[in-house]
Amino acid sequence: MKVNAEIRPGEIWPDDRGVHINAHGGGVLRCGDTFYWFGEHKADTTSSAMVGVTCYSSKDLEHWTYRGVALKVSDTPGSDIERGCILERPKVIYNKKTKKYVMWFHLELKGKGYAAARYGVAVADKTEGPYTFVRSGRVNPKIWPVNLANPDTKALTEAMNRKPELQWWTPEWMEYIKQGMFTWRDFDGGQMARDQTVYVDDDGKAYHIYSSEENLTLQIAELNDDYTAHTGRYVRVAPGGQNEAPAIFKYNGTYWMITSGCTGWAPNKARMFKAKSIWGPWEQLPTPCIGPDADKTFGGQSTYVLTLDGKQGKFVFMADIWRPEHPSDARYIWLPIKFRDGVPVIEWTDEWNIVSLLSD
Ligand code: DGJ
Repeated sequence: MKVNAEIRPGEIWPDDRGVHINAHGGGVLRCGDTFYWFGEHKADTTSSAMVGVTCYSSKDLEHWTYRGVALKVSDTPGSDIERGCILERPKVIYNKKTKKYVMWFHLELKGKGYAAARYGVAVADKTEGPYTFVRSGRVNPKIWPVNLANPDTKALTEAMNRKPELQWWTPEWMEYIKQGMFTWRDFDGGQMARDQTVYVDDDGKAYHIYSSEENLTLQIAELNDDYTAHTGRYVRVAPGGQNEAPAIFKYNGTYWMITSGCTGWAPNKARMFKAKSIWGPWEQLPTPCIGPDADKTFGGQSTYVLTLDGKQGKFVFMADIWRPEHPSDARYIWLPIKFRDGVPVIEWTDEWNIVSLLSD
């Protein structure tokens, strides 16, 4: 890797054509000495998907070559990924057994706002695509999470039927949420899946991590051997905690997850979790961000953590500064993750160098 690359968080980031990179809510996949950046193409005046998922490649993480649209939205009326749908937070993983690239994303059907709350999956033979849409849906219908094995469904049903007396956000309502009221509400049709990422562990097992239960609770679901479907094994994380934008990485046998709160496109204070097993228990810690504007995640919202050298603890925090009035002008925050007393910290810097991160 040519490591002498300068990263300028929050600035316009031109690609090889001189055009600001258009790959929002994205993630990076490393293939040999090449990095591939996948993200949402954002239009100038709408946050709906008018183009699809874009792909860029780079050998140094600063200079990116536009590789085109990896997954195109469809012009077939009624298609799940019809132009004008909402297609967010795409992430690509590589499956060594099938030799296929698998893309997961959050999908909302055209004209239905954020009601569908589905995952989408697409596959390709080549990193940059073209990706073929496979399916969209809710997660693990008719299966209980492993950490909610014996819910009191009678009590939860009674609580659900107490409308409108049982008001949202009351302590009693929150208690029922924690006990799985929405897990149960969505049991037959499958769990909601909005903000999301996918993660391949050292043993080759892959996981889908997504905001579920009306964005109140995160869930982590195991993927099957070809990474294109769920196995049925999943857990709830931080029930009622309202986490979005999950980004996960692993260092020294500990899983770390950075998330955001739920404030639409507006920035909020990042959260952090750690666990010794991906199945939990997950312990919540303060935001990893420090210094000025840390309480607003420097104006951004997490999307991915890029592992440069997992053994040496070299990770890059990736976030989006959204511009809902002019979505294509959204900016990127890439910052090094440092470890202080074994805990990740992220500090703003106007400009930094990949070489300094790798040689620290
Ligand atoms: C916050 C999410 O993190 C984004 O991906 C997007 O869905 C916005 N909400 C929409 O308001």
